[in-house]
Amino acid sequence: MFIDEFLSLVNVHMKRPTPFLLMNENILKSKIKEFEKILDKFDVYYAVKANPDKAVISRIAKSGLGFEIASESELELLLNLGISSKRIISSNPIKTPQFIDRLVQAGISRFVFDSYDELEKISSKLSNAKVILRLAVDNTQSAWPLDEKYGVSVSDANAFLLKAKTLGLDPIGITFHVGSQCIGNEAWQSALQEVYTVWENAASEGIMLTYLNMGGGFPASHGDIVPSVSETFDYILSILKNTFPPSIELAIEPGRGLVGDAGVLVTSIIGRAIREENEWIYLDVGVFNGLMESIGGIEYSYLVTNKTSQGELKSFTIAGPSCDSFDVVSKSVILESPMIGDRLMIFPAGAYTTAYASNFNGMTIPEVVMI
Ligand SMILES: Cc1ncc(COP(=O)(O)O)c(C=O)c1O
Repeated sequence: MFIDEFLSLVNVHMKRPTPFLLMNENILKSKIKEFEKILDKFDVYYAVKANPDKAVISRIAKSGLGFEIASESELELLLNLGISSKRIISSNPIKTPQFIDRLVQAGISRFVFDSYDELEKISSKLSNAKVILRLAVDNTQSAWPLDEKYGVSVSDANAFLLKAKTLGLDPIGITFHVGSQCIGNEAWQSALQEVYTVWENAASEGIMLTYLNMGGGFPASHGDIVPSVSETFDYILSILKNTFPPSIELAIEPGRGLVGDAGVLVTSIIGRAIREENEWIYLDVGVFNGLMESIGGIEYSYLVTNKTSQGELKSFTIAGPSCDSFDVVSKSVILESPMIGDRLMIFPAGAYTTAYASNFNGMTIPEVVMI
């Protein structure tokens, strides 16, 4: 992790009231560079949902990367920042009719689907649209699975592609998502194997697919040692080389892997308590205003800064500031006894933190500060 880079920055921001999300531009730039290295093989679209902060988007807009969006407001955000719709795609399989209208108006003519109703919706808006089928693939290597809600099975895929053709649409390819924070590269092997089966079955029906979008899943440095971007792509490319024709159009949509490591949440300890012999600390950020993913399997690292006094290492339950009992962020976290007023840095926090945050209970959504 890049935590040393942050420590000096946090000291510069000692007087800034918490909570805030410190985004480190140098780390973001180095992550962008890692993904730019593969632009000769893949189109890379940043998944805006991970962190839609304007400073983050504007920094990425200066690179060779494009953007993946899920809604009209994400589209307006990008267009208002002067980003051309030629750099924008949407891989949301279930779209509102209004969103499809806005995409069509903006000149975006490729749509992801995984249901018959979505195909009907798309064909009623753009009769010759290019459509991309979302396949459900194994998500067990990922801390944040995404396969329950979206995707069709390999065995059903052909029927969906044929239905698209029957409606006059142009089925051009396949997309999938191995689940967010994917730490086992074997997930790519099994997903690509499944896509290849669909590819061949489609060809046998005369549907020649040309586009493969591998979604996101590239990890940030949560907990375990995670594969680097270059390790993952060497692995993926070796699989692609032995299966798919070299002429196909390849795309990816990293969210967490691009911005996650570039952010640290700076919070304050606002309370302490002992409950049934367990020591608790309460922060000004919790599940509802920044750490939503903590209840779904994403683990953070914690570091107490500007300690007001020395303390022994002990185990703590960390909770947020709201009145809700769901607002428990982590248990059994070893910390040097934090006191009220100490600051707690939480990382990596550049992805899916402020993007999810609400004002529930009147709590503050952390300001995003890019430095
Ligand atoms: C369609 C799509 N693409 C890309 C992403 C980004 O995934 P990640 O943040 O794991 O890279 C998501 C995340 O939900 C997604 O739904």
